[in-house]
Amino acid sequence: MSVNVKTQPVLQVSGIRKTYPGEAEPLVVLDDVSLTAYPGELVSIIGPSGCGKTTLLRIIDGLIPHDGGQVKVLDQVVDEPPTSIAVVFQDGRLLPWRTVVQNVEFALELQVHRRLNKQEKERAREFVDAVGLGNFMKHYPHQLSGGMQQRVGVARALARVPDLLLLDEPFGALDAQTRLVMQDWFLSLQRRYSLAAVLVTHDIDEAVYMSKRCVVLTRQPGRVKRVVEFELPDARDRQDVRSLPEFGHYRSQLWQLLRDDAISDAER
Ligand SMILES: Nc1ncnc2c1ncn2[C@@H]1O[C@H](COP(=O)(O)OP(=O)(O)O)[C@@H](O)[C@H]1O
Ligand SMILES: [Mg+2]
Repeated sequence: MSVNVKTQPVLQVSGIRKTYPGEAEPLVVLDDVSLTAYPGELVSIIGPSGCGKTTLLRIIDGLIPHDGGQVKVLDQVVDEPPTSIAVVFQDGRLLPWRTVVQNVEFALELQVHRRLNKQEKERAREFVDAVGLGNFMKHYPHQLSGGMQQRVGVARALARVPDLLLLDEPFGALDAQTRLVMQDWFLSLQRRYSLAAVLVTHDIDEAVYMSKRCVVLTRQPGRVKRVVEFELPDARDRQDVRSLPEFGHYRSQLWQLLRDDAISDAER
């Protein structure tokens, strides 16, 4: 019986095409983009700046329309923002006038459209605890470091108990060391909740370290250039996977795929 549960994808993106109205002619941003994520799986998307990664996440979340193809979450076609998806942005996007726990409560208020009951408030506190901020419940965003703010963003997303988590360069604004800490921290959380997640990143090492599979997009229009599967030991945070020869192999494979687009970007 569990066979079906295991093999049913949480997310199926097939043949997505997206065009924005341009100045002279329409700008094709995404062309025939497909990807799949299974339960408990973290899939990364990497590609040059402007190749349509954020646009793709918005389409998956049903926030903007596409011009062709289909997005399905747990076999339901997405045509408006589903409650089963939560998003973490690069900048925490916290409400500055609300405390940490109130920011997480806000996500639940949006779901239930009324004041929270005691049980729901307790759930908000649990998720603040889960991201290690139990001692900062009543702090305001400006009293927190960038990494802590991102944790609140993740707590807010998790509190909705989503089937799918979308992360748009969630650690991109953090310093290099904090980013490494956050990667391990997020991986352990993702495993604990067996979450399916799509991670957009411009960081090659982050893609190899965090995901099982990476979808490499081309520069405008964004097309799938290659899907690279990483065969690396599980429980990655418990050993120094970055020093394995395979890690270096995958890193250079991704760089080969991205290099030409990156060079033409740098020369523009
Ligand atoms: N609302 C919009 N209207 C017109 N063009 C847009 C809009 N949003 C994004 N674009 C353009 O679409 C392309 C892809 O943008 P985006 O999805 O943000 O890329 P990425 O996240 O990969 O950097 C860029 O060229 C951007 O300028
Ligand atoms: Mg973006």
